[in-house]
Formats: sequence, structure tokens, C-alpha cells
Amino acid sequence: MTIIEQHAPAAYTARDEASRTWTPVCAYTDLVPELGVAALVAGEQVAVFRAFDGRVFAVGNRDPYSGACVMSRGIAGTRGDEPFVATPMHKQAFSLVTGICLDDPGTALPTYPTRVTDGTVEVSVE
Ligand code: FES
Repeated sequence: MTIIEQHAPAAYTARDEASRTWTPVCAYTDLVPELGVAALVAGEQVAVFRAFDGRVFAVGNRDPYSGACVMSRGIAGTRGDEPFVATPMHKQAFSLVTGICLDDPGTALPTYPTRVTDGTVEVSVE
């Protein structure tokens, strides 16, 4: 098993990895930079993004403002060094790193650890 890239929320530590359940989502090469993919991972709707710099992020697919499951169809980009996705409904932008809304820090998307194993993107929601 070769892990070539890994992104994890701040609270995640490497020693958690073995005890996590990783779900394959798609091939890394299927991810177009800054275009989201929706996946169902252990019953959770997740939006997966490959940032322009190559990192892979997973956040909740549900837009907390509209309640619609649309974040995978949001517009991704970068503010400074911060990759973000903006909801396609009302355009609020959420950090892909922390999930926090850049326009309204009291609101956030859940974030999930991701890794790329032998070219396959994997996400863990538990
Ligand atoms: S019901 Fe959970 S993301 Fe829509």
C-alpha cells in the first residue's frame, strides 16, 4: 500500500489511521482540480475536491444555509493559501481545510480525512 497524499482535519492524528474505516471513492485521476464529486460514505453525503495544488479534501455535501445537498457542485477556488468551496445557492465560501465559512465563521461544514492509496482516493467518516 502506497499512500502518496494525505489530508486530515486538525484534530486527526496519524495514530488514528489504523482504527479508521477508509472508503474508496474514485481514482485520483478522475478528480478534476476544483471540480467536486459527491460520494456516499458510510451513509454520509460527502463532497470531495482536488485543490489546485493537488491536495484532496472531503467536506459534508449539505449546504448549511439552504439545507440542500449541493456542495459538490459548488465553485471551488483559493483565497490566499486557503482552498475553499462556495455553495452554488447563495455563494457563501467554506474553507476546505477547516470547513469554516469564510464569510460567517459561526457556520461550518463537517470535514473528513482523506488519503490516496495506490491512486485511489479514500475518505473516512468515522
Ligand atoms: S441528507 Fe445529509 S447531505 Fe443531504
